Amino acid sequence: MADYKKPDYWQLKARKEGYPARSVYKLQEMDEKFGLLKPGKAFRVLDLGAAPGSWSLYVLRKMRGSVFLAAADISPLSRQYDAGLFNGDNFCFIQGDITDPAVRDSILAQGPYHLIISDAAPATTGNRFIDTTRSLELAEAVAAYTESALTSGGNLVIKVFQGGDVSALLKRLRTLFKSAKSYKPEACRSESFETYYLALGKK
Ligand SMILES: C[S@@+](CC[C@H](N)C(=O)[O-])C[C@H]1O[C@@H](n2cnc3c(N)ncnc32)[C@H](O)[C@@H]1O
Repeated sequence: MADYKKPDYWQLKARKEGYPARSVYKLQEMDEKFGLLKPGKAFRVLDLGAAPGSWSLYVLRKMRGSVFLAAADISPLSRQYDAGLFNGDNFCFIQGDITDPAVRDSILAQGPYHLIISDAAPATTGNRFIDTTRSLELAEAVAAYTESALTSGGNLVIKVFQGGDVSALLKRLRTLFKSAKSYKPEACRSESFETYYLALGKK
């Protein structure tokens, strides 16, 4: 069994580079491979399940002033490394449950977005059936955002726990986007059953 208390390579790197979570390297890899963030354009991004805030910080650091970013999470963001970036006019944080209709309305009011990224994950129980079912419900809620909040041609990244009926979600994404596939970045723990669905080019 993995020792999650001992910082691994990615955690140490995150600390050194000023990110509150190792998950930043998953987004960085997907961005570098699939060209998700396009600097220099007036680009609008939505980050769902954003806390403690590494993905949001990556977007704001890479895109500087040329992005508007809306982020949402039940939990607050960590302010340890943001150096004021989370106070900028080009950033908006909505604290709440993304499946709550009032939260959804606030998120939609800031849109539409060119890119939706979601690392949202339920608190795990250790029961694989419960965890995959909750993860799929969350991923489906994220996919529903694309229908009203994503621009035509826009891209989507969603985290899913493998298992359950995730293939139905992938099929649905293939009807909404020009392409959709599963991708597991290197920074995912090898024993983890998480993966990401990358859906590119909203129809
Ligand atoms: C793995 S963490 C995200 C890490 C983040 N990408 C980062 O780089 O810092 C998953 C997040 O999903 C959030 N989450 C889970 N269910 C949610 C929901 N229904 N609404 C909003 N956020 C949710 C959790 O609170 C948690 O902060």
